[in-house]
Amino acid sequence: MSDLKPEPKKLFIKTYGCQMNVYDSERMAETLGGQGYVETSSPDDADMILLNTCHIREKAAEKVYSELGRYKGLKAEKPDLKIGVAGCVAQAEGQEIMRRQPLVDLVVGPQSYHRLPEMEAKTREGAKALDTDFPEEDKFERLKSRPKAARGPTAFLTVQEGCDKFCAFCVVPYTRGAEVSRPAVQVLDEARDLVDRGVREITLLGQNVNAYHGAGEGGDWSLARLVRGLSKIDGLARIRYTTSHPNDMTDDLIAAHGECDKLMPYLHLPVQAGSDKILKRMNRAHTAESYLKLIDRLREVRPDLHLSGDFIVGFPEETEEDFQATLDLIRAARYGTAFSFKYSTRPGTPAAERDQVAEDVKSDRLQRLQALINQQQRELQDAMVGREVSVLFEKEGRLPGQMVGKSEYLHAVHVAEANVARGEIARVRIVDSAANSLAGVLN
Ligand code: 5AD
Ligand code: SF4
Repeated sequence: MSDLKPEPKKLFIKTYGCQMNVYDSERMAETLGGQGYVETSSPDDADMILLNTCHIREKAAEKVYSELGRYKGLKAEKPDLKIGVAGCVAQAEGQEIMRRQPLVDLVVGPQSYHRLPEMEAKTREGAKALDTDFPEEDKFERLKSRPKAARGPTAFLTVQEGCDKFCAFCVVPYTRGAEVSRPAVQVLDEARDLVDRGVREITLLGQNVNAYHGAGEGGDWSLARLVRGLSKIDGLARIRYTTSHPNDMTDDLIAAHGECDKLMPYLHLPVQAGSDKILKRMNRAHTAESYLKLIDRLREVRPDLHLSGDFIVGFPEETEEDFQATLDLIRAARYGTAFSFKYSTRPGTPAAERDQVAEDVKSDRLQRLQALINQQQRELQDAMVGREVSVLFEKEGRLPGQMVGKSEYLHAVHVAEANVARGEIARVRIVDSAANSLAGVLN
């Protein structure tokens, strides 16, 4: 018998969309690792290509098909190459993907990717594999424990998936399904394991992460309780969470922002719009005023909190007056950063059926909104000059001796001649504010 190990097969994963997809891609790569796959950074030498897709806006979904089209030549050259589509487009379109693009061998939804090994084997036998179930079994229980390889200083950890909010524009409740939380012990174990492998900052992920209610000691744990539990892990220095809904910012979670040193003063709290009429039609179940009051309460306990948000312009029936209300809300809330999008009709969602705002009006509003956001972002970033922040160093910079890391407010900070290692946290005095980053010196 030969003791030569078989050549590893190569896996190329391309990830679209949110951080939850980044996390899922890692877990998919680890799972296929059990089948003898190692990751490659190029599709050209891959034995399997997996696109982990996003369905949130039309453009995101269309990108997948144009990317698949590009692999025609590769597949013709290498008939053994397997091509798979994972993520939310897979969930939403299922079999339709294989009809539209016959070179696809495998389609797997976000809740069934623990079944990838069997599916991959099926494709090796020449069959197509499709699984977009919402299975009974817990995907995370079925996934093998994570390999022990060393990691960088920051990591994502999915603790909650799905959403029951049904905002009128959003496909997430359909593609990711109902809200489910992972048991607290499972999360704590995974966090300890990440810390053992060098991670110092964990970002807890969920489509509606602050609705977290995972089974734990003494009953269901809230996100606040989970944050406090994670804080006890030695070696874990920083905790963040994203993305949150205003209606799930409980008193306890607000208090945690004031009390829990490891919880970073940065919060992504999308409001989407500032007009109560539009918020109602979006089915957001909060008003502009209740959102602003919530921000006040958060800043009472954590005055330096950096706020981030998401905005949609040109939602059906949005008038100029409604749009002005969004600008007013932005002025009142003061964002450190924000993401903004033109409303995109998504099949199967309630707002897709309504009267649409003209494309040029959407573009004009988006431009004006982004100008205001950019101005706020600039002002808040420039105001950091002269202040001292703590920086978790993540990588070497482009200049010799330079290191780059993130402040507690998630600003990228460059430090020249920094005698610090990756994963170290140091106090840094900010001396300059550039386009997208800050420069500082070690204190
Ligand atoms: N059109 C435009 N933006 C959308 N988002 C979600 N659905 C849509 C849509 N149909 C945005 C929201 C959400 C973010 C992740 O994407 O702002 O918070
Ligand atoms: Fe989509 Fe977020 Fe609304 Fe849920 S809360 S429906 S994920 S926008």
